[in-house]
Amino acid sequence: MHAALRTGTAMPVAIVGTGYVGLVTGACLAAVGHSVVCIDADPHRAEQVARGETPIFEDGLPELVREGVSTGRLSATCDLPAAINGAKVIIIAVGTPSEDGRIDLSAVEAVSRQIGAAIKGRTDYPVVVVKSTVVPGTTDTLVRRAIELESGGLVGELFGLAMNPEFLSQGSAVHDFLDADRIVVGQWDDRSGDALATLYRSFPAPLLRMGLRDAEMVKYAANGLQSLLISYANQIASLCEAIPGTDHSRVMAAVHLARMLDGPEGDRAGATSFLKGGIGFGGSCFPKDLQALAAYGRRLGVPMPLIEAVSAVNGLRPAQALNLLATHLGGFFEKRIAVLGLAFKPGTDDLRESPAIKLITRLQSRGAQICAHDPLPMARKRAREAGLPVVDSVDAAMAGVDAIIIATAWPEYRALDWSTLAAQTHAPVVLDGRLVLDGLDLPRRLRVIRIGVGEEPQENTAEERT
Ligand SMILES: NC(=O)c1ccc[n+]([C@@H]2O[C@H](COP(=O)([O-])OP(=O)(O)OC[C@H]3O[C@@H](n4cnc5c(N)ncnc54)[C@H](O)[C@@H]3O)[C@@H](O)[C@H]2O)c1
Repeated sequence: MHAALRTGTAMPVAIVGTGYVGLVTGACLAAVGHSVVCIDADPHRAEQVARGETPIFEDGLPELVREGVSTGRLSATCDLPAAINGAKVIIIAVGTPSEDGRIDLSAVEAVSRQIGAAIKGRTDYPVVVVKSTVVPGTTDTLVRRAIELESGGLVGELFGLAMNPEFLSQGSAVHDFLDADRIVVGQWDDRSGDALATLYRSFPAPLLRMGLRDAEMVKYAANGLQSLLISYANQIASLCEAIPGTDHSRVMAAVHLARMLDGPEGDRAGATSFLKGGIGFGGSCFPKDLQALAAYGRRLGVPMPLIEAVSAVNGLRPAQALNLLATHLGGFFEKRIAVLGLAFKPGTDDLRESPAIKLITRLQSRGAQICAHDPLPMARKRAREAGLPVVDSVDAAMAGVDAIIIATAWPEYRALDWSTLAAQTHAPVVLDGRLVLDGLDLPRRLRVIRIGVGEEPQENTAEERT
């Protein structure tokens, strides 16, 4: 794929922030022929990438990083001034976490200042590009001012400015980047936009040019819509759980057939993949982006009740799912429970805001003994470092447990030998928090609680109520 995309116009590019977005961007741009230097404040991370190693898990990324480093098109360093010296395009891809619900732009500001100081006196019009997710108005105020202050030059004269939101999704990030459905370019002036048009020249996706604030807004509008679909489906799942005889998956399968939800070519993997009940969304983007959007609206005097409701619905889901399990287990005290999956979604080792972690801490506070597992060693390492009880194999996690919770939709968990498990004298109850077992011919003996299904109440009373 990337060989076919190789560009004739190689550009020197510097990317500040070598995380999920920065490293994927760097490796993919190097793969299409650009000359890329990745910069990170973390020396360990920069050294790893410089050696051709990949510090995060992302399908297809190790190959691209190795190839990029071995061909000399990809390098990494902590030395920002040296790295951006000569770079035509300087991309900011540092984190923008939320602090008390509001977006924390301190890393973006610090990097903008460093870039400003480093481009002082240049005459070749380097273009600074914000790729981090930032609230509208950030690029043309905070970023612009920081660069102007430190460089002593003006935007449009010394340097160009652009905003290029990233839509990749962890777990399929390389594919999403190389085969993007659209490339959005917010530009200060035509020269800045032209530089990005050249950077992405070999990408087949439509490139939409607009103002900086529109580009910043597109990212929030897109994330808001995806989370809205997930929370809508979860609201229906909660209701189904309270109505004996209803099955959310059956209901949604019929909802999915509405033509208005089809992609342009009738691709049903689009909107419908979010219209599915579960234990809620997590990750480093949706939760904090929704909070930032709501806080931003409040600041402008624009109430955002729908966005706040999406966060609220999502926040309820882990406890609601545990209610279902508590009904079957008669409470959690001293119950042994295996939690399968730690990452917020399959295909990544990222635990940030993962609903799996929320389930574990909630269960622990109610006296349950947890054995957690994730197929990725890096996810297990991170969970151990956070003090969570993690084992290295699914078998070890499931040995002698009263219940199993599937918390991440890893295909490995669907492929487990559920028949053997069901044949045990004391077969555990399974809470399928991600509906990964749907459609499998499971043994009748196996007690599977599916998300979004209203069942007749059991003898035991639920211990946990939201
Ligand atoms: N992760 C996603 O799926 C995704 C998708 C689209 C957009 N985004 C947005 O992209 C941005 C980056 O997200 P991410 O997930 O890649 O973050 P990340 O936390 O994985 O990576 C950020 C990197 O920046 C480095 N860094 C922080 N301060 C620095 C500084 N002053 N100088 C140099 N390096 C510094 C950190 O060490 C880290 O390696 C965020 O704004 C995020 O909202 C993320």
